[in-house]
Amino acid sequence: MISYKDLGLVNTREMFKKAIEGKFAIPAYNFNNMEQLQAIVMACAESDSPFILQVSSGARKYANQFLLSHMAKGASEMLKELNPHLKFALHLDHGDTFELCKSCIDSGFSSVMIDGSHHPFEENIKLTKQVVAYAHEHDVTVEGELGVLAGIEDDVVAEKSTYTQPGEVEEFVQKTGVDSLAISIGTSHGANKFKPEQCTRNEEGVLVPPPLKFEILEEIEKRIPGFPIVLHGASSVVPKYVDMINSHGGNVMNAVGIPEEQLRRAARSAVCKINIDSDGRLAMTATIRKAFADNPAEFDPRKYLGPARDELKKMIMDKNTNVLGSAGKGKEIFS
Ligand code: G3H
Ligand code: 13P
Ligand code: ZN
Repeated sequence: MISYKDLGLVNTREMFKKAIEGKFAIPAYNFNNMEQLQAIVMACAESDSPFILQVSSGARKYANQFLLSHMAKGASEMLKELNPHLKFALHLDHGDTFELCKSCIDSGFSSVMIDGSHHPFEENIKLTKQVVAYAHEHDVTVEGELGVLAGIEDDVVAEKSTYTQPGEVEEFVQKTGVDSLAISIGTSHGANKFKPEQCTRNEEGVLVPPPLKFEILEEIEKRIPGFPIVLHGASSVVPKYVDMINSHGGNVMNAVGIPEEQLRRAARSAVCKINIDSDGRLAMTATIRKAFADNPAEFDPRKYLGPARDELKKMIMDKNTNVLGSAGKGKEIFS
């Protein structure tokens, strides 16, 4: 059993409290490999942003669970040099069983998500409550979910989104004891968040997605005032990276994300954790495709993974500074 405290990590409690009071959101970035991890740590250190490192079950399968938690420990050591007061949480993204959550808690995670949103309400409560009981014994925080996002949630494909029903949130939060709640208000996972027929087109012919259901968020906030809300599927699918991919041999079509102004609006509300994975994937893929096209004779992975890491770092700094408002908040929270 490894405690996250011995790894120099924190749970999400204090950062969420400060994020709600300060009307900003904590970024939660997914990682699967070393370059992504370096980019996240370097960008958040430099922009002095509190952050959450997320690991999905797919990432655990890809990279190996032991390697990932040791990488997180390495990141904590690296951060001490780059920004000594800053701390981060290590979070399981979309945990689907009690056993997976327990295994993460036992190997040094400071926060877990139990995603019971595909189960009937009572079953979701039962499963979430079981995870909360074990997690809280170890001072680990828990994110639950109500409502189903459209798109791909790990191995489960949800065809249609089912918005969170505000009438269920009080009972869920109260009966489970969760520390934060992921909701469904129209975001979706991946780079094709909406079908073209769900969008309108602006004068330049660019797809404009339907707005998020802020009225549902407001209703939820009224029912559980000050309670930390989480937004999944919140990549904006940055057009410059999609264009860069497609102009260097790629084929990412009809890609559409959540507009940045809507994420800024959400970050000023009770939404205090915003999940971003696809934007990082697009930034790295775009840069690697360009590096291959510009230097076809190059075969040293550092020569294409290095620029991809640097571009991801730039993108994360921009998100922290201009979208989530978390840049510069590290000192306030941790000292
Ligand atoms: O919500 C899903 C995350 O983007 C993780 O995706 O299961 O492909 O690692 P993954
Ligand atoms: P995106 O696919 O929009 O980046 O969402 C990531 C996410 O919600 C991870 O849990
Ligand atoms: Zn998600």
